[in-house]
Amino acid sequence: MHKPALLKEVLEYLNPSPGKNLIDCTFGFGGHTLEILKKTKPDGKVLGIEQDKEIFEKFDHKKRLTLVNDNFNNLKQIVKEYEFNRVDGILYDLGVSSWHFDQSNRGFSFQVSKRSEPLNMSLSGDDLTAEEILNQWPEQELIRIFKEYGEEKFPGRIARVICEERKKHQIKTTKQLVEIISRVVPKKYQYKRIHCATHIFQALRIAVNDELNKLKESLPQALEILEKNGRLVVISFHSLEDRIVKNFFREAAKEGKLEILTKKPIIPSLEEIKLNSRSRSAKLRCAKKI
Ligand SMILES: C[S@@+](CC[C@H](N)C(=O)[O-])C[C@H]1O[C@@H](n2cnc3c(N)ncnc32)[C@H](O)[C@@H]1O
Repeated sequence: MHKPALLKEVLEYLNPSPGKNLIDCTFGFGGHTLEILKKTKPDGKVLGIEQDKEIFEKFDHKKRLTLVNDNFNNLKQIVKEYEFNRVDGILYDLGVSSWHFDQSNRGFSFQVSKRSEPLNMSLSGDDLTAEEILNQWPEQELIRIFKEYGEEKFPGRIARVICEERKKHQIKTTKQLVEIISRVVPKKYQYKRIHCATHIFQALRIAVNDELNKLKESLPQALEILEKNGRLVVISFHSLEDRIVKNFFREAAKEGKLEILTKKPIIPSLEEIKLNSRSRSAKLRCAKKI
């Protein structure tokens, strides 16, 4: 379902050992958690948080594993409610899983040669969807999110054509959206290393799930609940997330609250990228609470 990214490195930096308690803020399919549970035998515990109900319902609680269907921006509240004390390590493996792209049928993937999907993109199942954003948000707002969340080269042109198209018919599927983007982006930019729809799809997903704000809200809570010497490990998949983590670590280190253990982000080996191409943009940062 999902190959955990940078697994060896996560274990090295998170340093789980018998009796330790850790939080996996992005449980997904439990790839990281499973290995952490092995290392914390016989009595260490994991609290796994997963906001996607459909994924959450695929798993059962285990003796040493508590699962919570929630957003990690409620971290402090969750820890209190489940009385999960003495937290030795916290992991974030941000973004979505391979299952979201390949099987959720929620429009995360722009690979429309395989199939077209409804433009949903919600992880929580809340009301806001990519379809609503595309068909109802003002042009200026579309331009803003394409720029801010997608770092898109042609935000104005794409937003303008979306607004023209939606007057004729609602934009409901990934195929429609990819066709619009392919029509607008100049041909010479279409055959670069990444697909010309990558940035718009990223921007919509971030906007639908308010991903950057949730991360900004969660990191200070993680720092607060960690024990002294506890480890905070974050894997990000694009520069916007990585910047938030880097700046948060830097500020907390300046204030004497954290020691940064990764001067530069850790990236996957060529061997891992060969086995799991989706790990190619992963960056891991780790800090220790002082
Ligand atoms: C990259 S996957 C994690 C994969 C997991 N480490 C594994 O090995 O199976 C990220 C997961 O985190 C969930 N997620 C993303 N943002 C979240 C948030 N703010 N709160 C809780 N879960 C979140 C997604 O639904 C997704 O299942």
